[in-house]
Amino acid sequence: MSKRVLIATDKPFAAEAVKGIRNVIEKAGYELVLLEKYTEKQQLLDAVADVDAAIIRSDIFDKDVFAAGKQLKIVVRAGAGYDNIDLDAATSHGVCAMNTPGQNANAVAELVFGLAVYAIRNFYNGTSGTELLGKKLGIHAYGNVGRNVARIAKGFGMDVYAFDPFLSAEAIEKEGVKAVKTVEELYTTCQYVSLHIPATAETKNSINYDLLSKLPKKALLLNTARKEVINEVEIVKFMEERTDFKYVTDIKPGNHDELVAKFADRYFSTPKKMGAQTSEANTNAGIAAANQIVDFFENGNERFKVNK
Ligand code: 3PG
Repeated sequence: MSKRVLIATDKPFAAEAVKGIRNVIEKAGYELVLLEKYTEKQQLLDAVADVDAAIIRSDIFDKDVFAAGKQLKIVVRAGAGYDNIDLDAATSHGVCAMNTPGQNANAVAELVFGLAVYAIRNFYNGTSGTELLGKKLGIHAYGNVGRNVARIAKGFGMDVYAFDPFLSAEAIEKEGVKAVKTVEELYTTCQYVSLHIPATAETKNSINYDLLSKLPKKALLLNTARKEVINEVEIVKFMEERTDFKYVTDIKPGNHDELVAKFADRYFSTPKKMGAQTSEANTNAGIAAANQIVDFFENGNERFKVNK
């Protein structure tokens, strides 16, 4: 029987991306099922019940979803971060979970600079702001997005630093970026810091008062990673004390209303995560996900499996 592949996206892909995914799926002789902008978890549970594969974005795949997916063999997160997938549940139901690393990285990196210019030009309020040229940018985690951020930052004439506990200094410096040895050094050195860490047990709440206190005067924190990595209580305390500090984010924090009320002139969040919301990123990540699914069923390829 032909395989059924579900696209389950609360935040839909661009139409071009869906068309590209459909081409890959139908060329393989499979059937595409589309669930977009769903409002109730039950819709996802119903949709997953009779499919063999699923392509998702930040959609939550928890124990209930895996229990409902009786035929499900593979779920591919079209994107980088897979903290929305319960990997233990995937493993215990015999489902292969994958991501598509790098496919939407440029889109996220470009947004970093959209947010940075907006913030340092005082949110376009008409007053004199500052420029990126010659400023020190700290890239917190030098993965696919971090590398793209470095490439663009060089075009702006920034002095680029990075910290990544999983990479050697040589690996970072060969790309013309200054490697620092500790995370504290990154925050002490750089006026602008851009977060590219995943949300893991180690990183959650790790951007805390102590770390932020290291930042030089007129610092800016850019978050296009995950809201969970910020200690929400402590960043408020820090912003109350450091009236020179600005915080812009692409992931609306749990305490968004409090931040707006207290720091309207120094804080901004996009209404909905926009980093990967480009036609190009949707197409790259979506088609990569579709190809990975076909390659998994046809050839047993598990290259991008994350629940090893
Ligand atoms: C990712 O992890 O790939 C990005 O955060 C994009 O997430 P999204 O597909 O939910 O926009």
